[in-house]
Amino acid sequence: MFRERIYCGEVSAGAVGGRVVLDGWVDKKRDLGGLIFIELRDVSGIVQIVIDSSKSPDVAEIANAVRSEFCLHVTGTVARRSAETVNPNLATGELEVMADSIVVLNTSAVIPFPLDSRTAINEEVRLTYRYLDLRREEMKTTMIKRHLAMQAARTYLTAHRFIEIETPMLNKSTPEGARDFLVPSRINRGMFYALPQSPQLFKQILMVSGFDRYFQIVKCFRDEDLRNDRQPEFTQIDLEFSFITREMIMESIEGLVKVMVKEVLGVDVKAPFPVMSYDEAMERYGKDAPDTRFGLELVTCTDVFARSEFKVFQEAIANKGVIKCLPVPDDGKISRKMIDDYTEYVKIFKARGLPYFRYREGAFEGGIAKFLTDGEKSALAAKLGLKGVTLVFFGCDSFDVVNDTLANLRLQLGRDLGLIDENRLDLLWVLDFPLLEYHEEDKRYYAKHHPFTSPSAEHIGLLDSLTPENIHLLKAQAYDIVLNGVEIGGGSIRICNTDVQKKMFGVLGISEEEAKVKFSFLLEALKYGAPPHGGIALGLDRVIMLLLKRASIRDVIAFPKTQKGQCLMSEAPSPVDPIQLRDLSIKVVER
Ligand code: AMO
Repeated sequence: MFRERIYCGEVSAGAVGGRVVLDGWVDKKRDLGGLIFIELRDVSGIVQIVIDSSKSPDVAEIANAVRSEFCLHVTGTVARRSAETVNPNLATGELEVMADSIVVLNTSAVIPFPLDSRTAINEEVRLTYRYLDLRREEMKTTMIKRHLAMQAARTYLTAHRFIEIETPMLNKSTPEGARDFLVPSRINRGMFYALPQSPQLFKQILMVSGFDRYFQIVKCFRDEDLRNDRQPEFTQIDLEFSFITREMIMESIEGLVKVMVKEVLGVDVKAPFPVMSYDEAMERYGKDAPDTRFGLELVTCTDVFARSEFKVFQEAIANKGVIKCLPVPDDGKISRKMIDDYTEYVKIFKARGLPYFRYREGAFEGGIAKFLTDGEKSALAAKLGLKGVTLVFFGCDSFDVVNDTLANLRLQLGRDLGLIDENRLDLLWVLDFPLLEYHEEDKRYYAKHHPFTSPSAEHIGLLDSLTPENIHLLKAQAYDIVLNGVEIGGGSIRICNTDVQKKMFGVLGISEEEAKVKFSFLLEALKYGAPPHGGIALGLDRVIMLLLKRASIRDVIAFPKTQKGQCLMSEAPSPVDPIQLRDLSIKVVER
């Protein structure tokens, strides 16, 4: 049996006159001569402790020596505060505890930064002293909310007959898009395990074993470039189902997301979530995870400029590129200086310039207006529905560069013009992804999701006659879930037939030999009555980051890594003892 503890933040009016025993840390101390006030803090909150030196001189002597963040054990009697000393900012603000004993459980060095929420603290310092950072209210609440969301997910899934099964962390290296983290095997010299990028293959195998609904809240590891929404180790809520359709998976995930949002924010989100095809998302927003909280949509207008005299447009068309517009009805707010800044900004996305003109009540002014014919102007005005005062930006390059440029410019404009309602939760399904991508550099096909994703039934025949030109027609039975423009989950219906899986490996340039070495266990398992199956994984860290409106995924992970993949607190990664390397038969060479 756990001993029932009384928590500081939960001392209640019902306890007035009763005795309490509290453990916690000194948040603040004030000494008013005869009276000493200590705000004692634990994981639940804060309560005020009062020491009256005239009544308890021994306790006052101990309290006098107490400093911020000392760890204390306090015994006392709960009392009501007088009306003028009530603190409306504290849950326990109408009460105080008159201490008759204080034991200093431990002293504290002077803390390197204040723990209140008013002071902005450098992130490196916070990460170095993460144990102190986690004492701060914001971090503490985040960790508790994260825990509650995980529990809500577990309860929901368990109620729907999902079984949580752990899959191994030491695995065979099988590529899934990113680089693997490798772990050398001491007993098998020269051999390596890989940490899982996801439990993908194991969860499919579990379907073959007959566990028709599996889930796992699981750590995944990917050695990729880090960003604000990416960590080298992160947590997935990973699911797989047998005897399932895409629609059934979507419905289950909507239920799961609903209970998590309700738990974290107390808000009811409406289901079913809107659905958009990949092609539509790319056309209207230029990216497959669109932020639909604001307008500013892109419009393809290559056809308008088929006979353009403007060299930049001519070149784009000659190179089989596209021309897209981003009309911004800004009422003239965007200045010349801002346009120059945006022109500089889009260079990050390989744009070679940012053509624009301003439409003002029927007139075309500035920028490239002088290169447009009357025919082009009227076709454009009709296509874009131009009215009032609108700035029109252009992207003219390859499909990827144009979309990348205008999608990012759109987001920047959305922020700069204050168009994004931060209180909205826009959940969206993106469906019908292309199955494959073609990379010109190495003239190879790559799986857009992963090699185990099933092609859509009506296009499966295309696998036999694939060319870089018709590849976009081959759709995958894959789906992503997007929240406020961030991909929070992705999944697919899997290939459950050995022959189709082998064909898929063939298309991806994975030789029979290589497939046998890397995936023979999956190919073999699929032979033994594999049920039709599919699944999805949600990125837990991203979900919590977005719901709690944190700027970075690092703010929702107890012990995250920096952009350079380092843990500033424990100083990982680090060199290791040469003896460890010798045991592993590893030699580090200079590059
Ligand atoms: P996918 O690779 O799309 O699918 O990953 C699923 C979700 O995991 C989150 N995520 C990350 N979060 C933080 N840091 C990262 N480095 C990171 N990488 C991914 C994202 C993403 O949507 N096995 C498949 C799932 C399936 O098909 O069932 C998979 O892992 O939110």
